Amino acid sequence: STSNTVRRPKVLVTQALLPDSEKLLENAEEVEVEIWKDGLIPREELLKKVKGVDGILCTLSNKIDKELLDATGPQIKVVSTVSVGYDHVDVKELRKRNIPLGYTPGVLTDATADLTVILVLGAARRIREGILSVLNGTWGIWTPTYMIGSQLSNKTVGIVGLGRIGKATAIRLKPFIGANGKIIYSGNSDKPYAGEIGATKVDFDTLLRESDVICVTCALTSQTKEMFDYDAFKKMKKSVVFVNSARGGLVKQDDLVRALSESLLGSVGLDVTTPEPLDPQDPLLKYDNVFVLPHIGSATYETRTLMGNIAVENLLAGVRGKPLPHAAQL
Ligand code: DGY
Repeated sequence: STSNTVRRPKVLVTQALLPDSEKLLENAEEVEVEIWKDGLIPREELLKKVKGVDGILCTLSNKIDKELLDATGPQIKVVSTVSVGYDHVDVKELRKRNIPLGYTPGVLTDATADLTVILVLGAARRIREGILSVLNGTWGIWTPTYMIGSQLSNKTVGIVGLGRIGKATAIRLKPFIGANGKIIYSGNSDKPYAGEIGATKVDFDTLLRESDVICVTCALTSQTKEMFDYDAFKKMKKSVVFVNSARGGLVKQDDLVRALSESLLGSVGLDVTTPEPLDPQDPLLKYDNVFVLPHIGSATYETRTLMGNIAVENLLAGVRGKPLPHAAQL
């Protein structure tokens, strides 16, 4: 009889991880691990492969919803995402089923704040146009008016969502704006550390009206979804540098295109769009003052290694019935 045999826990990992993180998985000998290494796992394949697993390690490209959890079955003990954002996960469904969610806060703060600064400077200083002109031979002679952008000195930076990444972004931008620059922020709570970085809380409308640079660094939730719509863009300064390194869904993208077509915005820097990847023919990409990167905020070797390791630790803790080292508040 097999009634006394302990079943080996099974996990599905939906993407290849960095070597360190895969090593951590290999070391967990009691766990049967399947890693999908062939790019994005098709939805039907995912629904088949999750059947009977005790844990799923996913990325933001995998939708974790009721359908998927039903397909997995009641034995599932943990979902672990290799990301700090978890808008791709239906947290209500997890809560209902008492399944913890692992995520990776903290370790990507520096990398993402660095990239946010790149977006600000890249958009403000017309880096897209500059690179293109070098590559396509339209680089002309130096003239006083050639490819001039805007400067950060003495400007007001508005941070939408002064969490870990927003704070790290503000700290990085401080030396650029200098002693006469200002940092303001909006969000649903007063941050105790705002004072120490010289950031003042304002309401969303004030932030839109007063900022020379707007950095979006908040989570995507039902409250923040499409908070940047035509109305919001209309309130901004016409010279604004608008940067989003959080989630594409925070922006109503058709409205952004409309605002650009009406010259309501100075320049735009985006690391996130709807959808991802963005079609190269997308109207958003027709504007010279829009600088788009392919969701690479956390893409450093160091950070991705730590993210993968934390995701594996969360996964293994979950299948072993232990508290997750980094559990999202569901
Ligand atoms: C996240 O972690 O949420 C980023 O979007 C990817 O690192």
